[in-house]
Amino acid sequence: MALPEISRSMLKNSLVLGTFAVLTVGVVAVTQLGTAESIEKAQHEAKMQALAQILPSGSYDNHLLDGSRPVTDPLLGNKGATPAYLATLKGEPAAVILQATAPDGYSGSISLLIGILADGRLASVRVLKHRETPGLGDKIELAKNPWIGSFAGKSLNAPTEAGWTVKKDGGQFDQFAGATITPRAVVKAVHKALLYFDAHRAELLKPVEKHNG
Ligand SMILES: Cc1cc2nc3c(=O)[nH]c(=O)nc-3n(C[C@H](O)[C@H](O)[C@H](O)COP(=O)(O)O)c2cc1C
Repeated sequence: MALPEISRSMLKNSLVLGTFAVLTVGVVAVTQLGTAESIEKAQHEAKMQALAQILPSGSYDNHLLDGSRPVTDPLLGNKGATPAYLATLKGEPAAVILQATAPDGYSGSISLLIGILADGRLASVRVLKHRETPGLGDKIELAKNPWIGSFAGKSLNAPTEAGWTVKKDGGQFDQFAGATITPRAVVKAVHKALLYFDAHRAELLKPVEKHNG
């Protein structure tokens, strides 16, 4: 039985609309997948660059990515397990690089990479990710200010516990003009990471078992 003219027209329009909808969903899905992949790749590359800056060149001779083990502890402040990278020199443990999160930045969490030498001294600290205010809290980035370099050489007991905060709170670390919250949060997170290292030193410096297959 032939369909009335109006029904045929509706059917045709529905088919055209349906086809467009399917195509649009497909294009959006493919674009999203591609974008997520490139964001992940960019984050991975940023992390590799940051890792390479943490320890002095020549202080280790292994591939850091081959020498990592997952760690998790409230002192590190991370949401889940994060890799602890073991740096070795001629097979001997030289340093560990931990990832830590300061939850109490001015604009939320600040993600850090913290390099600790086998003897417990800090090699260096770098900021992986933050949302602090440009011109104020973003001075924690090495590109903006040398402040983050003030951690090098410090350890859990040098300065003593009271020194592990900003000068405004009686500690040893500078705050920024008009921005105390951000550096206070970073100093606290680094101190906690040192407490974690101190409590888990032996296991963190143990050779990482290679998993084949
Ligand atoms: C718009 C705006 C953005 C701010 N951004 C930051 C920031 O990124 N980091 C920070 O430590 N303080 C920031 N501050 C300043 C803080 O509110 C606070 O006054 C400052 O950190 C000093 O803290 P204190 O009073 O505890 O010493 C910002 C203030 C305003 C109004």
